[in-house]
Amino acid sequence: MSRIAYVNGRYLPYAQAAVHVEDRGFQFADAVYEVVAVVGGRLVDAEGHLVRLERSLDELRILRPMSRTALAMVLAETVRRNRVQTGHIYLQVSRGAARREFAFPAGVSPTVVAIARNVDMTKADASARRGVAAISQPDIRWGRCDIKTVGLLAAALAKQAAKEAGAYEAWLVDRDGFVTEGSSSNAWIVTADGALVTRPLGHAILGGITRSAVFELARQEGLRLEERPFTLTEALAAREAFVTSTSSYVMPVTSIDGKPVGNGGPGLVAGRLRAIYEAHSASHGAGRPDWQAQFLAP
Ligand code: PDD
Repeated sequence: MSRIAYVNGRYLPYAQAAVHVEDRGFQFADAVYEVVAVVGGRLVDAEGHLVRLERSLDELRILRPMSRTALAMVLAETVRRNRVQTGHIYLQVSRGAARREFAFPAGVSPTVVAIARNVDMTKADASARRGVAAISQPDIRWGRCDIKTVGLLAAALAKQAAKEAGAYEAWLVDRDGFVTEGSSSNAWIVTADGALVTRPLGHAILGGITRSAVFELARQEGLRLEERPFTLTEALAAREAFVTSTSSYVMPVTSIDGKPVGNGGPGLVAGRLRAIYEAHSASHGAGRPDWQAQFLAP
């Protein structure tokens, strides 16, 4: 079956799907995106992703290409046409195509692309049972990591370093020695006295949809939550560490830079949170947080 992409109002086989050579997403990374999980053929936490997309667009003054409902329909239709049951949909909106000039061009319409694919979760499930390795890398990204732009070169370099070290993820460390987040995930630890710690929202991290959902689920479980920065030293002294993202769900991190976290095995809290997050995704995000409230800060 040939895969189908949505491009600016049309559903096209990949061979015919194309964007303009002067698209600003291509030339300036002047574009934002979302990756949404698909479970049972339906999107997980779709509203959260669309609210965050609108926030990213507004922050960069890229025109919203269509209403939230219309975008949700495009996503659902792209999933349907590609017969995705368990997988992801990728949505990208650029400022548009125009003659190359740094300042915003007048009168351009945003370019919208959506692609969807099935993903075999067997490998991720096996990794979650074993736990994964992380390495640390300096955070060399720009100052607005809260906006989900396609300017992902620093993240790609960090992920490549992780891959070459045989690790799953790179934890990015800011100039003051605090962990910001993973190259494509949010970073968490469980301290020796049982508190769940993750960096507060701000310009230094992406406000993950999975982070928000897990935060809310952990609160409902009665876990003690602390939104504050933590260092690598604190992470290595922690009982557990894990990452959250659309593609990893909740993934236990059992070593950092080759040193074990806790007893070196996947932790109980991460295991429990992964199980309840899976139930949350299977319900497509029922009982979700108030998404509008998740991204207004700061
Ligand atoms: N990455 N932080 C960064 C830098 C990310 O790129 C991502 C997601 C997250 C987690 O966000 P969410 O829970 O909304 O997926 C945190 C996506 C999956 C990607 O680039 O593929």
